[in-house]
Amino acid sequence: MANYNSLPSPIAKRLEGKVALITGGASGIGAATTRLFVQHGAKVTIADIQDNLGTSLVQEIGTENTIFVHCNVAIESDVQNAVDATVAKFGKLDIMFGNAGIADKQNSSILEVDYDIIKNVFDVNVAGSFFCAKHAARVMIPAKIKGSIIFTASVATVHTTYIENALGIVDRETGNEWIVGANLKGALLDEEEVAKSVMYLASDDSKYVSGINLVLDGGYSTTNVALAEAYKKLFPSATIHQNPNEAV
Ligand SMILES: NC(=O)c1ccc[n+]([C@@H]2O[C@H](COP(=O)([O-])OP(=O)(O)OC[C@H]3O[C@@H](n4cnc5c(N)ncnc54)[C@H](O)[C@@H]3O)[C@@H](O)[C@H]2O)c1
Repeated sequence: MANYNSLPSPIAKRLEGKVALITGGASGIGAATTRLFVQHGAKVTIADIQDNLGTSLVQEIGTENTIFVHCNVAIESDVQNAVDATVAKFGKLDIMFGNAGIADKQNSSILEVDYDIIKNVFDVNVAGSFFCAKHAARVMIPAKIKGSIIFTASVATVHTTYIENALGIVDRETGNEWIVGANLKGALLDEEEVAKSVMYLASDDSKYVSGINLVLDGGYSTTNVALAEAYKKLFPSATIHQNPNEAV
């Protein structure tokens, strides 16, 4: 018979003893992940270009568990320095969360997009992610650490300053309109929800998971909004159920 007394507590710290580096850690998803990681026993380096936000987050959480390092991920030596500062302060690196990213302003036509905009987005989002993976591997491989390298990408939105800057939407109510295309009605996505998924990927709970694209979109990418719109035009009086469970 199973001994249920030996089951771990549901509130057990899931990152005890681990060391993480979070780029874009001063705001939004990165800040929420920093807070959650520390609650679960990790030490965290916050690497960001927003020095004031980063240092005030360190003050909020405490200097025992966090440090701030100024780091522009588009500059390889900055990423190298952030990784080295993490190892110098906390002794190792178990988790690299490459989360820094930009959208730049929205343009309505390709004709308005200059090379500078494209180059900036690629330098930060693509080259920056590469530098994070490279310098995490640089210290993880010789240390034979079973490390996690995790990145943020997007198919849906989480309401953060990123989306406010990109789309000019400032209130959460309006931001939540984006979820109407998802088939999980009533469920909302916020940065804390993203942080929980990052923690799963960073923890030993996912030790046999590799190369996964973990999609948090309430089913948005499994529905076909265009089909529903076309159906509405063809059969205006019909009721459309995108979620098959609602149709019964
Ligand atoms: N929120 C969304 O809907 C959404 C949509 C698409 C992509 N994303 C991605 O999610 C990630 C987190 O963004 P967020 O939503 O928390 O927004 P956010 O703006 O609150 O946080 C992004 C953080 O990245 C930092 N950053 C920007 N450029 C950097 C650079 N060159 N080097 C280091 N740090 C830099 C910013 O200072 C900021 O602290 C980003 O990679 C973003 O591209 C988010």
